[in-house]
Amino acid sequence: MILVTGGAGFIGANFVLDWCMTHSEPVLNLDKLTYAGNLQNLASLQGNARHVFVRGDFGDFNLISRLLAEYRPRAVVNFAAESHVDRSIHGPEDFIQTNIVGTFRLLEAVRAYWNGRDDADKSAFRFLHVSTDEVYGSLTPTEPAFTETNRYEPNSPYSASKAASDHIARAYHHTYGLPVLSTNCSNNYGPYHFPEKLIPLVIHNALAGKALPIYGDGRQIRDWLYVKDHCGAIREVLAHGRVGETYNVGGWNEKPNIEVVQTLCDILDRLRPRADGVSYRTQITFVKDRPGHDRRYAIDASKLERELGWRPAETFETGIEKTVRWYLENSDWVAGVTSGAYRDWVSKQYE
Ligand code: NAD
Ligand code: DAU
Repeated sequence: MILVTGGAGFIGANFVLDWCMTHSEPVLNLDKLTYAGNLQNLASLQGNARHVFVRGDFGDFNLISRLLAEYRPRAVVNFAAESHVDRSIHGPEDFIQTNIVGTFRLLEAVRAYWNGRDDADKSAFRFLHVSTDEVYGSLTPTEPAFTETNRYEPNSPYSASKAASDHIARAYHHTYGLPVLSTNCSNNYGPYHFPEKLIPLVIHNALAGKALPIYGDGRQIRDWLYVKDHCGAIREVLAHGRVGETYNVGGWNEKPNIEVVQTLCDILDRLRPRADGVSYRTQITFVKDRPGHDRRYAIDASKLERELGWRPAETFETGIEKTVRWYLENSDWVAGVTSGAYRDWVSKQYE
């Protein structure tokens, strides 16, 4: 079996759902269920014997050691993290604790487990660390997209904590020989995306008749990738990636935020027009910028294409249409995650 950490979050849940659809190999899914983790994301796996869920902290050395000894996975895919940049600005401590210390403790438990295996198992074992393009910092409008050899220049507490975890994972390969692979991916979107992030927040606010907050001038650029394509890339790297290597994952879809939000408004105008006939674009509101806001990210994913033959299946146009339709069809899921702690976050961040 494989062990997935953070498999009740946005990307982790999509990965686990897709894995269970396409593989007969079981998944041990370890998640602490922070505000971002949600068992509703995995509801369709209820009764599926190939999915074992354990609530726990990936930084709990004893728990991880016990699970590794009991289930003897052949691979670990590490998604667990604090992932929201704005939250890292309000309170960096959790990001340092989870993303740096948690990853370190997980690696320690995995190293001890891996050391105890025979040579064949040791060489077949994989630890795949899931990371982000934000570790490379910010690009000017004309600079080429990030490659795997770009210098690390993280600018937010979130990206700095992810950068640190990348370095620790790398060191465990270099120093101890642990078969580590890393991926650095651009912005994901799709089903089960928590509505603190731009795309689901805008869909949710539009339908609720609220302001659609654009930070600063809205000309910041992100490189969007449909989440199922990211999951496919991770499966490919896990199966065929070269140990010790890093692979950039991206959608070749650079868009300014304002354009993303206008596109969402236009799709909603078509699929769920406002009762008064006015466009959702009228709800767009420019608000105070994010401190230290990175201007542009862009991923050069040609290494992944050249070495492993991976390319995204979705364009931004097809992926964003699927995403809006998913949110319209899953209003219960949205209602479930936008109560309680979510409302506290929104008033802290926007009011
Ligand atoms: P998310 O915030 O939606 O989910 C994170 C999950 O990790 C949650 O289920 C949470 O409960 C769990 N978790 C947090 N702390 C934990 C702990 N101590 N022990 C066990 N579980 C814990 O995040 P996401 O957007 O799904 O991102 C997943 C990974 O992918 C992260 O490592 C993130 O840095 C990376 N990434 C995200 C994006 C993106 O656009 N969302 C892009 C590139 C890389
Ligand atoms: O690049 C990969 C990263 O993408 C991941 O590592 C992170 O985990 C993930 O959260 C995401 O980070 P961003 O900061 O790019 O995503 P977010 O959805 O928060 O913001 C996208 C852009 O939209 C960014 O430029 C900030 C802007 N924004 C965001 C929000 C929430 C707004 O203008 N208004 C908003 O209300």
